Amino acid sequence: MGHLNQIFTGFNRYPFEIFHCIFNKKKEKWKSVFHLFLSLYLIICFIEPVSSQTWDGVIVTQADFQALQAFKQGLIDPKGFLRSWNDSGYEACSGGWIGIKCAQGQVIVLQLPWKDLGGQITEKIGQLQALRKLSLHDNHIGGSIPQALGFLPNLRGVQLFNNRFSGSIPPSLGSCPLLQTLDLSHNSLTGTIPESLANSTKLYRLNLSLNSLSGSIPLSLTRSPSLMFLALQYNNLSGSVPDSWGNTHKSDFFFKLQYLALDHNFLSGRIPASLGKLSELQEISLSHNKISGVMPSDLGRLSRLRILDFSYNAINGSLPASFSNLSSLVSLTLESNNLDDQILDSLYKLHNLSVLNLKRNQISGHIPSTIGNISTLTILDLSQNKLSGEIPASFSNLKSLSSFNVSYNNLSGPVPTSLARKFNASSFVGNIQLCGYSGSTPCPSPPAEKPKSRGRKLSTKDIILIGAGALLIVLLIIVCILMCCLIRKRTASKAEDGQATASATAARGEKGAPSAAGEVEAGGENGGKLVHFDGPLMFTADDLLCATAEIMGKSTYGTVYKATLEDGSQVAVKRLREKITKGQREFESEVSLLGKIRHPNLLALRAYYLGPKGEKLLVFDYMPHGSLATFLHARGPETPIDWPTRMKIIKGMTRGLLHLHSNENIIHGNLTSSNVLLDDNTNAKISDFGLSRLMTAAANVNVIATAGALGYRAPELSKLKKANTKTDVYSLGVTILELLTGKSPGEPLNGAELPQWVASIVKEEWTNEVFDLELMRDAPTIGDELLNTLKLALHCVDPSPSARPEVLQVLQQLEEIRPEAATTAATSSGDAGPSTSE
Ligand SMILES: *[C@@H]1O[C@H](CO)[C@@H](O)[C@H](O)[C@H]1NC(C)=O
Ligand SMILES: *[C@@H]1O[C@H](CO)[C@@H](O)[C@H](O)[C@H]1NC(C)=O
Ligand SMILES: *[C@@H]1O[C@H](CO)[C@@H](O)[C@H](O)[C@H]1NC(C)=O
Ligand SMILES: *[C@@H]1O[C@H](CO)[C@@H](O)[C@H](O)[C@H]1NC(C)=O
Ligand SMILES: *[C@@H]1O[C@H](CO)[C@@H](O)[C@H](O)[C@H]1NC(C)=O
Ligand SMILES: *[C@@H]1O[C@H](CO)[C@@H](O)[C@H](O)[C@H]1NC(C)=O
Ligand SMILES: *[C@@H]1O[C@H](CO)[C@@H](O)[C@H](O)[C@H]1NC(C)=O
Ligand SMILES: *[C@@H]1O[C@H](CO)[C@@H](O)[C@H](O)[C@H]1NC(C)=O
Ligand SMILES: *[C@@H]1O[C@H](CO)[C@@H](O)[C@H](O)[C@H]1NC(C)=O
Ligand SMILES: *[C@@H]1O[C@H](CO)[C@@H](O)[C@H](O)[C@H]1NC(C)=O
Repeated sequence: MGHLNQIFTGFNRYPFEIFHCIFNKKKEKWKSVFHLFLSLYLIICFIEPVSSQTWDGVIVTQADFQALQAFKQGLIDPKGFLRSWNDSGYEACSGGWIGIKCAQGQVIVLQLPWKDLGGQITEKIGQLQALRKLSLHDNHIGGSIPQALGFLPNLRGVQLFNNRFSGSIPPSLGSCPLLQTLDLSHNSLTGTIPESLANSTKLYRLNLSLNSLSGSIPLSLTRSPSLMFLALQYNNLSGSVPDSWGNTHKSDFFFKLQYLALDHNFLSGRIPASLGKLSELQEISLSHNKISGVMPSDLGRLSRLRILDFSYNAINGSLPASFSNLSSLVSLTLESNNLDDQILDSLYKLHNLSVLNLKRNQISGHIPSTIGNISTLTILDLSQNKLSGEIPASFSNLKSLSSFNVSYNNLSGPVPTSLARKFNASSFVGNIQLCGYSGSTPCPSPPAEKPKSRGRKLSTKDIILIGAGALLIVLLIIVCILMCCLIRKRTASKAEDGQATASATAARGEKGAPSAAGEVEAGGENGGKLVHFDGPLMFTADDLLCATAEIMGKSTYGTVYKATLEDGSQVAVKRLREKITKGQREFESEVSLLGKIRHPNLLALRAYYLGPKGEKLLVFDYMPHGSLATFLHARGPETPIDWPTRMKIIKGMTRGLLHLHSNENIIHGNLTSSNVLLDDNTNAKISDFGLSRLMTAAANVNVIATAGALGYRAPELSKLKKANTKTDVYSLGVTILELLTGKSPGEPLNGAELPQWVASIVKEEWTNEVFDLELMRDAPTIGDELLNTLKLALHCVDPSPSARPEVLQVLQQLEEIRPEAATTAATSSGDAGPSTSE
């Protein structure tokens, strides 16, 4: 499945990012737009094969039909993907033709990536006057890019990368007023880059990389206020980089350029100072060019710059002092230049610097010891310079260092031992007076350095003695631990003998009937108290306390451990933060209510333990498959999650939440994909509910104010501070969106939250692109379900709480979208024991 990779590389170029700006600006405007599109978007933009009945009446216009026929004729289709383009045009707009979407009988999307198509694109494509998106990337299409594309007034996205287009880029493309993305990368285009491309005032992503474009970089592009990504790397561009970045007549614009790649060209001249005006710039690469001169100090103004790569040029001078102001810098690569001055001593101010590569320059002087203060450094390469003096001892502070190289300098003295131990000789060779980094380069033992000389003179006898001593200490510790456990066991069994309560026997493992209350109590040593709720787990307080435990996570309420009991069974134990829990009495009455909640989609509380010093442990079923968040986001492309599974999880979460709301009168308050766990059969189990009841009122104000994970919190919570059913529905909606898109609400979508991001794409009629690509493979059969679930989820995240449905309605609609027969029954869950009986 080599082509999965391609799917992923192609994915990030789609124009998701731009739209959030619109919505961030005016909340009210966004609200009305939101409502409008909710009612309209179905009609405008999502005509899938499955919805064809509704569209039988719409016949493609004559002009568009002819254009499509000519388009097909121009192409070579060895795999027969276009076989469905066969009738008189009647079907073209009703979903019968692959890769086509229409509105009112006009083609708005023409999308045929990865289809092995060859041939050429006809100029007749200009007849598709309503065309918004042309996506033919990853084919073998050649010939030239049709000039006629420039006459399409609605064109927004053009993705023709990874093809064999030749000839030059038609200047007419600059006449498309709405063009946002133009990606012609990895073709065989020649000629110059037309100045006119910057005439498209909406253009924010321009990728012309990996072609053979020549000439210089057009001035107009440096002045575009809309461009965010400009990728011109791997071409034959020459001349100097224009020094007109950010110069515009319209002063109210700010420069959005975030990404500038000009590497692997033949650019010469100096680094323009005006680059310092690109206040949003995060990444810049000018590597592998012929750039000379010094680095302008204006670059120090790029406070968002994360990656700077000027390697393989002829830059001289030193690092400007202003570089100490590049506070976001993560990677600084200046390999193979002519930098000749000393290393700037204020680099230590760069608190996030991870990569510092100054290899193969002419840098002289000493290595500043403050570099040892950049604790974030992982890669440090100073090799092939003219550095002298010692390697600063402060370098032993660089704990994260995974790659280090000072070879071929004029360094002297001993290598700090921690470095010598971690890195082999290849990191140090070529410094004649450097010593102590390998067996063949011993340092002359200076009389002053006592610890060293003593270390050198250790005899075999000494070593044996030291080893024996260490062994003895270890043995002592082990004996101590064993004794401890033994004593505990004794006291425990004594306590049992003494009290001999029925409950204690039950707790010991014979499947004794639980007490009337469904609870089984057992005393532990030192007056600790373990209370069991019904369920298959039987263990004593001591079993629990002696269990091996590893930390799984921390939350506002406390720390969660995975505990393995003596008999090998596993439980999840949550240790509550003592200071914020209620007093024992209140706590016990609340926790026993929580312990009675049983539902196949809610994580069961099996027991609690009150320690003698007020420690409070909650014992839950352990879910080996972890959370929905890891299930969804921490997996490789080789483990896809199909739609039925996702739907089953969605329904499970909804059922669990419904039970909480309507049967238990509990508001969750912090529903996220991390709080939804999965059992062996990927049944969803909501966790972390009702815990606020165990906390003091004062704690709750703080917890609710801070707990709701960002991205899942309903907007009104910032004012309200109190969760309710509608804020839970909002979180549910976000989690459903997460399952549909495969995107985590935690990951930044250029500042937009997941709901707004999805909504904006849907509104811009790119609906298909919100879905996880894995799901799109089955789109022809499940398109309706995806779409309706998306619609429902967007309904749940409506900015206005009153517009959101209740959980019951959500569940009802889900049942309509995918009736139960089609889903595996969630009730046949792997959750063994009597607990699942409702
Ligand atoms: C057109 O193609 C579709 C899909 O391949 C096929 O089902 C249909 O029978 C074809 N119609 C004709 C008239 O060939
Ligand atoms: C681009 O705009 C400039 C003026 O802003 C105009 O002179 C030029 O003709 C335009 N080019 C195209 C191809 O529209
Ligand atoms: C530009 O295209 C290249 C090659 O297709 C790709 O690797 C790169 O990610 C693209 N860059 C942007 C900013 O779109
Ligand atoms: C581009 O540069 C490469 C490498 O120097 C060269 O082989 C190729 O002929 C050039 N192409 C054009 C169109 O100038
Ligand atoms: C760093 O930025 C501050 C504030 O913008 C400025 O005052 C200072 O001069 C800058 N430092 C250098 C070395 O350029
Ligand atoms: C440094 O990185 C951390 C996390 O990677 C980030 O939160 C922080 O904002 C960064 N600091 C600066 C100054 O960019
Ligand atoms: C660098 O770190 C050392 C301790 O490792 C500290 O004493 C010193 O003040 C730090 N220097 C700067 C400039 O932060
Ligand atoms: C190397 O460093 C020593 C001092 O450690 C100095 O005397 C010598 O001139 C340097 N050699 C070169 C070639 O720079
Ligand atoms: C030294 O370490 C480097 C990188 O860690 C490794 O590539 C290289 O093979 C090692 N050389 C020897 C001789 O062990
Ligand atoms: C260190 O740099 C030298 C020359 O720059 C290189 O030959 C060597 O492989 C590098 N060693 C490591 C461990 O990176």
